[in-house]
Amino acid sequence: MTILITGGAGYIGSHCCVAFLEAGHDVVVIDNLSNAHPECIERIAEITGKKVAFEEVDIRDQAAVERVLRKHQCSAVIHFAGLKAVGESTKDPLAYYDNNVVGTHRLLSAMSNCGVRQMIFSSSATVYGEPQFLPITEKHPLNAVNPYGRTKLIIEDMLRDIATSNPAWKFSILRYFNPVGAHKSGMIGEDPLGIPNNLMPFIAQVAAGRREQLSVFGNDYDTRDGTGVRDYIHVVDLVAGHLRAYEALASRETPSNCFVVNLGTGAGYSVLEMVSAFERASNKQIPCVTAPRRNGDVAEIYADISTALEVFDWKAENDLDAMCRDTWNWVCKNPRGYEGR
Ligand code: NAD
Ligand code: UFG
Repeated sequence: MTILITGGAGYIGSHCCVAFLEAGHDVVVIDNLSNAHPECIERIAEITGKKVAFEEVDIRDQAAVERVLRKHQCSAVIHFAGLKAVGESTKDPLAYYDNNVVGTHRLLSAMSNCGVRQMIFSSSATVYGEPQFLPITEKHPLNAVNPYGRTKLIIEDMLRDIATSNPAWKFSILRYFNPVGAHKSGMIGEDPLGIPNNLMPFIAQVAAGRREQLSVFGNDYDTRDGTGVRDYIHVVDLVAGHLRAYEALASRETPSNCFVVNLGTGAGYSVLEMVSAFERASNKQIPCVTAPRRNGDVAEIYADISTALEVFDWKAENDLDAMCRDTWNWVCKNPRGYEGR
């Protein structure tokens, strides 16, 4: 039985492929390469010593997805494919509803036609909106405040409705906090196109001399040093959570046929703490300037991780120093990311 990994050539998907291949599972990747480089597939094969089945397919192409599901006799899907930039989603919401919502609808329709009824879905802490209490439990009210977040919520609702309609479906909805870091080999990692939107890749590019300085978006939040606090999680820990989610789905030891789990560490770090940690890991100075707050940012958010511990018997193992060390290792070995991007 093979697991279909959508978006498996992307940042988190590629690490997931490595984890599942190393755990002895067969995987097939589909990706339309809109935010990925085919070299990544070669690197996954090099790390694991296993051949990776790859098909350049868009999830919105239902017939092509059905062909892949049948050809590889897939039994489950791990669904990463989608667009993920909050700012871009406010400028081009149609592209987000098309890729994320329409894409997931077509993927689910293909699964239904092929009798594949297990999915692990990449959701996001962004569905919680402004925190009403901390740490954030899975029961926290949902209030997405941008088109990207709303696409994630719509997909979550779609999965809940399908699960209610037919108990044969099984869904694990994973709400990621802030994934960072890279595989310890330094062969795969996050390779953003253009100017990075997110903190960690931006800091890494400043350390590498590709950018002059970091703009710290706001230093007057009600946090311990005035800068935004987030729950950063090592991508290798994050994908280990997917492996546990898959095992739980397969063994049916789940609380229901559609359950939600936060994936974070439970600890928050400020922007300035991230900068200091990266300076330690890279032995480089990261020049910073204070800039206005970024629209839509919250002051502080971090996860309650007790459900993950209870349901998956899983918790993150890597600390902030490991996250920075592994990011720096990836950047030093691949100063321009995957070649040709
Ligand atoms: P990524 O952009 O590196 O990976 C997504 C992959 O999907 C890319 O390889 C892209 O080429 C592919 N893709 C996009 N649209 C597609 C389509 N229509 N058909 C086929 N392939 C398509 O992003 P990532 O950081 O690896 O994120 C993976 C998932 O996790 C996304 O769904 C994202 O929303 C979610 N997520 C990410 C974060 C984060 O901070 N990275 C946080 C929360 C949730
Ligand atoms: N920040 C800066 N300067 C930068 C970039 C970020 O100061 O150049 C600050 C932000 O203001 C925030 C913190 O660093 O306080 C983290 O910002 P990120 O953009 O790295 O992460 P966010 O928490 O804003 O958002 C990320 C993803 C979302 C996802 C969310 C929760 O981008 O898609 O985590 O999972 F929804």
